[in-house]
Formats: sequence, C-alpha cells, structure tokens
Amino acid sequence: MKVGVVGVGWAGQQHIKAYAAMDGVSLVGIAGLEEETRSELAAEFGVEHSVARWEDLLEVDGLEAISVAVPTFLHAPIATAALERGIHVLSEKPIALDGEQADAMVAAARSAGRVLDVAFNHRRRGDVQKLRALIEEGRLGRPYYTKAWWLRRTGIPTLGSWFTQSSLAGGGPLVDIGVHVLDFALFLLGNPAVKSVSASTYDLLGSNGFGGSRESSKSGADGAAKFDVEDLATVFMRLEDGGTLLLEASWAMHRADGDQFGATLYGTEAGAEWYVDDYVPVGSLKLFGDVDGHATVESFRADIGGAHPEVVADFVAKIRSGDWSAHDGRAAAALARVVDAAYRSAREAREITLS
Ligand SMILES: NC(=O)c1ccc[n+]([C@@H]2O[C@H](COP(=O)([O-])OP(=O)(O)OC[C@H]3O[C@@H](n4cnc5c(N)ncnc54)[C@H](O)[C@@H]3O)[C@@H](O)[C@H]2O)c1
Repeated sequence: MKVGVVGVGWAGQQHIKAYAAMDGVSLVGIAGLEEETRSELAAEFGVEHSVARWEDLLEVDGLEAISVAVPTFLHAPIATAALERGIHVLSEKPIALDGEQADAMVAAARSAGRVLDVAFNHRRRGDVQKLRALIEEGRLGRPYYTKAWWLRRTGIPTLGSWFTQSSLAGGGPLVDIGVHVLDFALFLLGNPAVKSVSASTYDLLGSNGFGGSRESSKSGADGAAKFDVEDLATVFMRLEDGGTLLLEASWAMHRADGDQFGATLYGTEAGAEWYVDDYVPVGSLKLFGDVDGHATVESFRADIGGAHPEVVADFVAKIRSGDWSAHDGRAAAALARVVDAAYRSAREAREITLS
C-alpha cells in the first residue's frame, strides 16, 4: 500500500514513523513547508517524494492513502481533495474547524466510497483501555456522573502560531486537547450521545500574554502574539443514558505546574479515578468501593497501550478490510458538533440542545 503524510511537525512525525515501521506499507511521499526537517525525514525513512505543498503530494503516482497532520483549517480542503481522487484519509484531530466542515468531509468520504478516519490516540492508552474494561465488567455499576479534564498551567502552544488563531485552529484548548477529553470520556462511557451542553469559555490570561508554552515548535509563528481563542473551557453535558459529563480543558490557569489529564467517574457500585501527570505513559488508576459498609480502594496496573502506531495500524486495517463505508468519519464529526454547541452555549450564555 502506497501512503503519504502531509505535515512534518510533531503529529506528522508520529504518522511517518508508524507507517515506516509497518509491513506491506510503503511511505512514498511526505509534504511540509520546513525543507530541512522534510529532507532529514525523507533520508531517514527512505521516502522517494519530498515536496513542500500538499497539492503536489496528491499527484504522486499510485498513492492510496494519506495522513493529514497540518493546521486544522487545512484538514477539510486536503481531505476532500484526496477523497475525491479516491485516496483514503487519516486526519489528525480535531477533524475540522467546525461541524459543518466535518459533515462535508464525511459526505466526501461517502460519495468517494473511501475511508475517512480521525486520530484519537489517547483513548488507546493502556490505562484508558483498562478502565473501559473495568466499566464493561460492571465494576462501577452504572456510571452516572463523570468529570474529565486536561489542564495546563502554562501550555499555550506557541503564541502567534496557528494554534492561537480561531480562523486557523477553530478554537483554543477545547478543540485542541478538550476534543481528546471528549473522545476518551465518551469512549469510557460506551459512547452515549450528547443531548445538551452548557459551557463557559474564558480568555483572561492568554490574551494578556500569560501561559505560553516553554517549547516553541509550532509552525507559522510570526512572533506577533495573536491570541483570539479561549484559554479555558468548561462544558457540562447531559447524555442520552441519563448521565452527565463535566469537561474542563485549559492551556493557561493558575494551578500546579505542568500538564495533567484524567477522569473521575461515579457509579452505582463504585467510583473510579484515573490521573496522568506530565504525559507519563501509564497513569494511576483506582477504584473506590464499599465492602460491608467499609470504604475500599483498589489500584490497577495497565499496559502502555497503542498511541499513534496503533491509530495508523487501525487505519491501514480498515482499508485492507474492504468495508470502507463503515468508516466515514461520522463519529469524529459528532464530536465536532458537540464542540460547536459548546462554543455557541458560551457565546449565548444558555444551554444548547443537540438534535
Ligand atoms: N493526536 C495528537 O495527540 C496530536 C498532537 C499534536 C497535534 N495534533 C494535531 O496535528 C495537527 C498538526 O499539529 P502539529 O502540532 O504537528 O503542528 P505543527 O505546526 O508543528 O506542524 C504543522 C505541519 O503542517 C505543515 N503545513 C502547513 N501548511 C502546509 C501546506 N500548505 N502544505 C503542506 N504542509 C503544510 C507545516 O509545514 C508543518 O510541517 C493539528 O491538527 C493538531 O491538532 C494532534
């Protein structure tokens, strides 16, 4: 299978390494604006075509599938152009700038009869998979209230880069890390539909220059501190199973230093707490129960899990399965509509019902 990758930033490099390590897959092309990085990657992984523009990558003879790991405003145009040429697409998260673009991508995949997949690597963590297995075994009973979050003290991806401009990114931490939280939380709960959202967003720190990440690796930063997105979002959701989910995502807030994410679930039989500090490969996972009126605490071990190599392998497996119509990106589009509703709720200061 001949594949290509658009984007040679952190995300693109995860896809490049994953394809390069796979049997039966030939990474024939990469695209990206950083010529030096691209040349080094092409040399390291023996990639024949190394081009700046994504349009030129799509011209590579016999290309069957691509990964799209570029700033979010480019996801829809690149994915649609590729699908129309009969090329399967694995897009980075979030699927697109908004639900409307996401729906157009799904329509393009359906009419082309090709796979559209979206990279949600965090749900593939071993600790998340372990917690999902415990929930499926019934250890929590019925989980009815969940808090899921990803919070950073100073983690705004490069101020002035595409990440902090709403026309290029679609929003701030809610679309960036919050969409991962939404994905892993709903996955843990068995993917119930979101019925309504009530949200608030804040931009009190980032817009004053507080909270920039110490690393400054994002492409397109021109030094001017453009920041027209939120730095904190909080979203309260009612789910179709009667449960509720509270999501928090921040790039900047006065709190403990570092970068942490996790979830707390309250169920009828037990509660669960999963916590990941500074990207440790396996976070802590505990269950809180009751035996004869006594509080119990159980800790669990988990594997590291699959991350991007598993996301990419799964995409290739979907293509090889031949059952392409089952994989049209609609689950990721549904998440984009929840995010849209959250931003609308914050703007209009009211609860929004999803149809
Ligand atoms: N799944 C994850 O954990 C994860 C982590 C980080 C980023 N991402 C996602 O991956 C995507 C890229 O993020 P990043 O952090 O790698 O960004 P980045 O800014 O580091 O890299 C973006 C890449 O896109 C390339 N690019 C921009 N315009 C282009 C064009 N016209 N033609 C060809 N290439 C072009 C740039 O040259 C660069 O190589 C985003 O959608 C982001 O949300 C996902």
